[in-house]
Amino acid sequence: MNLSELIRERRSIRKSNSRPVEQELVVELLSSAARLQPPIDAGSWRVVYAGTPEANKRLVDCMLAQMSQSKLGKLIPGKLLDVFKKRFTDIPAHVIVMSTVGPDRLTNDRNYASVCGMMQNFQLLGWERGLGMLWDTESIIQHEGFFKGIGLRKDERFVGILHLGYYDKAPRSRKRTPAEQKWTVFQGHAT
Ligand SMILES: Cc1cc2nc3c(=O)[nH]c(=O)nc-3n(C[C@H](O)[C@H](O)[C@H](O)COP(=O)(O)O)c2cc1C
Repeated sequence: MNLSELIRERRSIRKSNSRPVEQELVVELLSSAARLQPPIDAGSWRVVYAGTPEANKRLVDCMLAQMSQSKLGKLIPGKLLDVFKKRFTDIPAHVIVMSTVGPDRLTNDRNYASVCGMMQNFQLLGWERGLGMLWDTESIIQHEGFFKGIGLRKDERFVGILHLGYYDKAPRSRKRTPAEQKWTVFQGHAT
């Protein structure tokens, strides 16, 4: 598969099968992904890996803690919550990604953007090896309890979780907005 095919054909995988994900493969792909992202320096990112049934269960508990404890969450039937939990616990592995908060906004944004680039490289390199992923930034997981649970430090920003798993069938692509619709030619209005 050439690069443009790889970029076009990669899909977010929301339903993985039970085939285990090898930790060695994850480390290898992360190293390659970081090497492909030149501005990323050694100190600007960190990942936490969960890949055992116990760790996955603890992670899912952290992810859903806010929902389970909220007023709205308490209205959700226990069985439905269990189904939700099982869906995430059954995912073979998770990579939680943090970027370093710099001394100013520009540095923060650069670190964050660079880490996002590295994550996309990681998704593509994984796809090349048959490994699927879902990049998760849902608002439901963006809470203090979760940040504490994953060990997010004061000088770190949570970027996302990549849920990893092999898949039986890749989903179809969603419709894309043509780039031309996002395009204007600079007119250079004087201020
Ligand atoms: C920065 C970023 C955050 C994302 N967050 C979520 C998310 O919270 N939940 C989700 O279902 N998908 C999330 N995704 C995946 C996109 O929704 C996905 O790329 C989109 O559905 C297009 O599908 P494709 O990856 O198969 O092309 C995220 C992707 C990116 C790049």
